[in-house]
Amino acid sequence: MNHHLIDSEASVTRFVIAAMSDTQDPRLKRIMECAVQHLHAFARECDLSEDELEAGLRFITEIGQQTHHSHNEVVLAADVLGLSTLVALRNNPSAHGQTAAALLGPFWRKDAPICTNGESIARTPSSHPSLEVSGYVRDDAGNPITQAQVDVWQASPTGLYENQDAAQEDMNLRGRFLTDDKGRYLFKTVRPAGYPVPTDGSVGKLLRAQKRHPYRPAHIHFMVSAPGHKTLITQVFADDSEYLSTDVVLGVTKALVGMFQEKDGCYSLNYDFVLQEGISKFPEPPIK
Ligand code: BEZ
Ligand code: FE
Repeated sequence: MNHHLIDSEASVTRFVIAAMSDTQDPRLKRIMECAVQHLHAFARECDLSEDELEAGLRFITEIGQQTHHSHNEVVLAADVLGLSTLVALRNNPSAHGQTAAALLGPFWRKDAPICTNGESIARTPSSHPSLEVSGYVRDDAGNPITQAQVDVWQASPTGLYENQDAAQEDMNLRGRFLTDDKGRYLFKTVRPAGYPVPTDGSVGKLLRAQKRHPYRPAHIHFMVSAPGHKTLITQVFADDSEYLSTDVVLGVTKALVGMFQEKDGCYSLNYDFVLQEGISKFPEPPIK
C-alpha cells in the first residue's frame, strides 16, 4: 500500500497539513493549520453537501464582488457573525481599567478633518436634536494624556453615514480632535439614530434567512490614539436606544453604554477613555 496517497476522506486533513509544512512564517503556518483543521471539522460535523459548499463559496465570492471604495460587505459579514467583536474583545482586555474596545465596522474613513476642540462635526445643517460630547483621555495610572487624537464618526439622525447619503456633505459627522493640556476633548454634533446595516447585499439575504433584524442601537464611534499607547477603537451607545441587547453585530458591552442627558431638547454625553501603554498604530480603512 502506498502511504503517500490519500486513501479516504479521513486522511485528507493530514495531507493538507503536510503539504503546508514548509511554510516559512511560523504564525502563518499556525493560522493556516488551525484554519484547515477547523474547516475540515466543520465540513464533517455538519455533513456539508457539494451543493452547500458551492453555496458557501458563492457567498464568499459575492461579498468580495459587493465590496468597493464606499462599501465593505466583507467586513459586514465578519461583523454579523460576531467574529469582529470576538477578536476585538480577546485582544483588548480591560484588566487594568482600560476602556473596552468594540468592532471598527465598515464605515471608518482615514483622514477625517482635523478640528479644534469644541467644533461641530455637523457640516450639513440639521434640525434634529444637538449633542455635545466631552470627556478626558487618561492612561491606566489616571494621568491625563494631552494631544491624544480622538477620531469620531457617526450616522446621521436618519441613520445614514455620509458615504451612504447624497444629501450629506463629504465628511459630515466625522472629525479628529486633540485633547487639551488637561487631556480633555469636546465636540458638538447631532444625536445619532439607530440604523439598519446595509441589507441590499448577500449579508442582508443571510439576515433575512435567519429572521434577524438588521438594526444597530444609536452610537458614536471613537478611535483614540496617542504616541506610546495602544490605539483604542470603540463605540459609545445611547443608554435610551432600542436594540442595545440585540445589536445585529453584537458590539454592545455594558461598559460602553453612555448616558445621553437631555436638557431643553439638547443632549450631552460625558465619556472618558483610558488607554493602555503600547504601540500606536492604525488599521487599514475599510472604505476610502
Ligand atoms: C457601524 O457601526 O458603523 C457598523 C458596524 C458593523 C456593521 C455595520 C455598521
Ligand atoms: Fe456605526
